[in-house]
Amino acid sequence: MSHELVVVVDFGAQYGQLIARRVRESRVYCEIWPWSTPLERYRERGVRGIILSGGPASVYAEGAPRVDPGLFRLGIPILGICYGMQLMSLELGGDVRPAAQGEYGKAVLEVTAPDDPLLAGLGPTTQVWMSHGDHVAAPPPGFRVLGRTAATPTAAVGDPERRLYGVQFHPEVVHTVQGKELLENFLFRICGLRGDWTMAEFIDRQVAAIREQIGQGRALCALSGGVDSAVAATLVHRAIGDRLTCLFVDHGLLRKGEAEQVIRTFRDHFHMNLIHVDASERFLRALRGVTDPEEKRKIIGREFIRVFEEEARKLEGIEFLVQGTIYPDVIESGGPTGQAAVIKSHHNVGGLPEDLKFTLVEPLRELFKDEVRAVGRQLGLPEEIVGRHPFPGPGLAIRVLGEVTPEKLAILREADAIFLEEIRAAGLYDQIWQAFAVLPDVRTVGVKGDQRTYAYPIVLRAVTSVDGMTADFFRFPYEVLERIMTRIVGSVPHVNRVVYDITSKPPGTIEWE
Ligand code: XMP
Repeated sequence: MSHELVVVVDFGAQYGQLIARRVRESRVYCEIWPWSTPLERYRERGVRGIILSGGPASVYAEGAPRVDPGLFRLGIPILGICYGMQLMSLELGGDVRPAAQGEYGKAVLEVTAPDDPLLAGLGPTTQVWMSHGDHVAAPPPGFRVLGRTAATPTAAVGDPERRLYGVQFHPEVVHTVQGKELLENFLFRICGLRGDWTMAEFIDRQVAAIREQIGQGRALCALSGGVDSAVAATLVHRAIGDRLTCLFVDHGLLRKGEAEQVIRTFRDHFHMNLIHVDASERFLRALRGVTDPEEKRKIIGREFIRVFEEEARKLEGIEFLVQGTIYPDVIESGGPTGQAAVIKSHHNVGGLPEDLKFTLVEPLRELFKDEVRAVGRQLGLPEEIVGRHPFPGPGLAIRVLGEVTPEKLAILREADAIFLEEIRAAGLYDQIWQAFAVLPDVRTVGVKGDQRTYAYPIVLRAVTSVDGMTADFFRFPYEVLERIMTRIVGSVPHVNRVVYDITSKPPGTIEWE
């Protein structure tokens, strides 16, 4: 496989991934390498372009990450972004100054060199996103200024001869309106790439890497019913076939029909070795009488580990554990160098006992959710699984407020199923990040026929979001809400009221707990 490879050099923090993702969106294969990567590696791998990412530090800070200055003499085109630009300028003899005050937020870039390939087709002015303290007061010899903002006279610089470029702003964020065009100018006009990489190639590459990592060994994967673990399992199954065993611990807190679907897809359709453990009674027993949300989570995590451990001990000779860790999980756990295992485990697996040691296989670590979905589609996973909204590890236990009982779960499942059915029927499912019903621990008065009722309300929650970190309520057409209300109060026993949660996040969270 000879891909056009572009490398994003990561100086820490979380800047690199978004750049890498933008590059992949432009159909160029992209990897993120640490700043300490030796130069030989760039030659060996035939790197076609280098992007130096932003970073949290000032180039003058003690211990600020540096690259081997030989990087600038490899003849590979380089684009330095923010910190990357400052570092390049410093190494090549420019003047980098700590600013009296930084520049943060939107700014207008004035393109002063429209003839240069980097800013070709942009401008004459265009909105960019700034976030920096230091700035380049004078670019290095051989460079010229390509664009400026009111506060930064050297907002974009370049040396077309050596194909070295720098921008002070962040082309990878959406607030830089023509960021994609700029990055594509770098990739296509400056690096001269074709941009013919596809998800199919990502899969080939990962399959090869998984085969290399696992060798003739065997692997275990816990399926949750969610997208990430489903895609990870399918990818590993493609790589090692029957040497993968999937463990589906059904905690009895899934949505209506979900457990059946997992079994149908993985056992019947993909013919994977699937162990289905119906542990619902055990989980419900453990949750009896518990009302505190944190306590519920703890119990579910603990029971999950116990069941997982019991099952894992029955299987012999398995050294590898497949996890559907995706990039946002890596960020949550404290950056790419942090321990991703900790976070996914916090969500799903938890700490396994010392003597039960696995080597982790995490083929989706570099991907964002929508990229994971694209991989899943390419692997032939059904749309119902691939396009599915995120679902929390503790499942419906955090959507039944107060004590979790089989009766309350049944009410919630029915209402939730109606809600989702109507959303799909209205063609709105894919516009929504997450939609679900919540059963609060209160009852209110209603009237049915001549009868006064005293029953539960159902809360509907539907939000739009890009990453779950912030969210806004989804604007339903009133007719859809009306239909949902009518069906829920008409057919779900013990429910006499339906309300719609219009809280954004922040200050609300997505889940109610
Ligand atoms: P909140 O409620 O914090 O949720 O706004 C943000 C996103 O995280 C999901 N979530 C969880 N996912 N285990 C998970 O795997 C959990 O314990 C958990 N709690 C919340 C939530 O559904 C939303 O997508």
